[in-house]
Amino acid sequence: MKIYPHHTNAETAHALIRHIIRLMEEQPDKIFHLAFSGGTTPSLMFDLWANEYRADTAWKRMRIFWVDERCVPADDSDSNYGTMHNLLLSKVPIAEEYIHPICGANDPQAEALRYSNVVRNYVPRSAKGMPAFDMILLGAGDDGHTASIFPGQEYLLSSLLHPYETSFNPYNGQQRVGMTGAALFNAQRLIFFITGKSKQRVIHDIVASGDTCPAAFVAHHARNVELFTDTSACPSE
Ligand code: 6PG
Repeated sequence: MKIYPHHTNAETAHALIRHIIRLMEEQPDKIFHLAFSGGTTPSLMFDLWANEYRADTAWKRMRIFWVDERCVPADDSDSNYGTMHNLLLSKVPIAEEYIHPICGANDPQAEALRYSNVVRNYVPRSAKGMPAFDMILLGAGDDGHTASIFPGQEYLLSSLLHPYETSFNPYNGQQRVGMTGAALFNAQRLIFFITGKSKQRVIHDIVASGDTCPAAFVAHHARNVELFTDTSACPSE
């Protein structure tokens, strides 16, 4: 796992955007299939991307998917799609047809199946027959969850039948649709974007412990893993 530490959340966000732009420039004829996580951490990145890197990004070669979604309508402040749409996607030249949201307003089980089929249809598959995203961007919660896979729901990490399943936030009961191990461990590149003092424990688990939480398990077992973090989350760096 490669670690890219920076002094602040903003510097980390800038570095991550530049990293993605550079990776796309290295393969100028390739269409990139990217899956984004939600939560609060990526919001600053989305805002910076729209305002400072609009002209530098090959939007027409991006296909946008989500790692997970809260089961709420798109106009709910909790919506991962709604957040990314408002901060970034509504401000850059990317065609609607290339944006594939998880529909949080649908029945969770039905949506998990529907979205699994969407991803199977639009994302190139590896030899194993599972969708292989070019880049998956993950966050991690203070409790070590990632991709809406919370502690106690680790069975989703070994779920290899469907790329998406339902889960739930154990702290408020909110239903979620999220990526399972089937797609997480099949990605070409997996990038963690984790910043802030509250994430010190999960960063320690990822960098220096065993498979003590879902985020650490994914970091230790996925291929081509990169960690973009800041010194408040990773003071030892
Ligand atoms: C979600 C995310 C989730 C997120 C972590 C970190 O829908 O909540 O996809 O996995 O990455 O909860 O969230 P914060 O950035 O808000 O700490």
